[in-house]
Order: sequence, then structure tokens, then C-alpha cells
Amino acid sequence: MATAVSSTTVRSATLSDLRALVYLEHLGFESDRFTLRRYRYLLTRANATTLLAEHRDRVVGAAVMAWRRGSVVGRLYNIVVDPSQQGGGLGSILLAACERHAVERGCQRIHLEVRQDNANAIAFYERRGYQVIGSRPDFYTDGSAALAMAKQLSPSGALSALMAIGPLGS
Ligand SMILES: CC(C)(COP(=O)(O)OP(=O)(O)OC[C@H]1O[C@@H](n2cnc3c(N)ncnc32)[C@H](O)[C@@H]1OP(=O)(O)O)[C@@H](O)C(=O)NCCC(=O)NCCS
Repeated sequence: MATAVSSTTVRSATLSDLRALVYLEHLGFESDRFTLRRYRYLLTRANATTLLAEHRDRVVGAAVMAWRRGSVVGRLYNIVVDPSQQGGGLGSILLAACERHAVERGCQRIHLEVRQDNANAIAFYERRGYQVIGSRPDFYTDGSAALAMAKQLSPSGALSALMAIGPLGS
């Protein structure tokens, strides 16, 4: 049963969320999961923003944006929703929050990579304005290719997406 989007909050992750983040990776991915070590690095040393979707104190989704100083491109480095909650709008909320952070940082585009065989995620991105801009052979540890996708951001577009889904946490 999908979580009610209206009672979901989005906030920045902290080190106390490490275990929940890793657990979500195990639920959401079969391979190439982000490890505890990688999340620890993202939360402490990387130029990155890790967001959590939370419902009744339970972490139900996460997204990571990676930034590069002086670049107008933000990279969606990861996004995952608890499989029992997928299809209920949480991914859209997280993606809109990532886009808002990117706009606030002055980014003009978001880039991402997605497994070429991940039809659900590719369709999810395409319906939210992302376009395929290339492919990356041998991108994943099992040798699978990735599609590179990008979206041009407009400050007003990100704002209207957020107004449609209501208030967010920090
Ligand atoms: C991609 C992902 C983050 C999307 O999250 P989500 O919460 O399912 O997203 P939403 O509910 O906002 O939108 C999903 C879309 O699929 C549709 N859908 C319907 N049933 C669904 C189901 N059982 N599961 C997933 N999506 C479903 C939704 O209606 C929605 O359609 P729309 O694009 O026409 O609006 C999530 O599916 C996920 O975690 N996948 C596994 C990890 C992954 O592949 N991440 C991407 C790595 S690049």
C-alpha cells in the first residue's frame, strides 16, 4: 500500500540516517548498491546533498545530488523509494526537491545515469522532462550500459512542481 504523499516530509539526511539509507539500498536495488561507507563519505566530505523522504518517522525514500564547484550542472547521483511504496508519488516528490536544490544553487541542468534495462526509471524520468543524451557502455559492475539523461531546469518550472506537491521539510 503506497504512503500518503500529503503526510510525507523531505529533509536532509544526517549521519544518524546511515543505517536507514543502506537498508533502503538493499530494498531498492539488486546490485551496485551504495554502501554505508559511500553514504558516510557523501554525508561528511562530498560536495553533495542527500535527501530523505520520511513517513511517520520511517525512511521511505532517498535521493542524492552531487555538485561541482563552478558548474551549472547538478548530478542526480541516486534515487530510491521503498518498493512497497513505489508508484505513490514519493519518487516525484524527491525528484522535485532535488530540482529545487539545483535551482537554488544556480544549476541550469541536471544530468543522471540510469541502467539501460531499467525501463520503469527511464519512463519515470522521461515523463518528468528528462531526455536521453547518450549512453555509457560498461557503466555498472556487471558490465551493463547506462543511458545518460538530462533536463534543462527553469526556476519557474521547479517552483510550480513544488507548489503542486505542497510544503516540504528542510
Ligand atoms: C524510480 C523510482 C525512484 C520512482 O519512485 P516512485 O515513488 O515509484 O515514483 P512515482 O510514484 O512518483 O512515479 C512512478 C510512476 O510509475 C507509475 N507506477 C504505477 N505503479 C507503479 C509501481 N508499482 N511501481 C512503480 N511505479 C509505478 C506511477 O503511476 C508513476 O507514473 P507517472 O510517471 O505516469 O506519474 C522508484 O521506482 C525506485 O526506487 N526504483 C528502484 C530504484 C531505481 O531504479 N532508481 C533509479 C536509479 S537511476
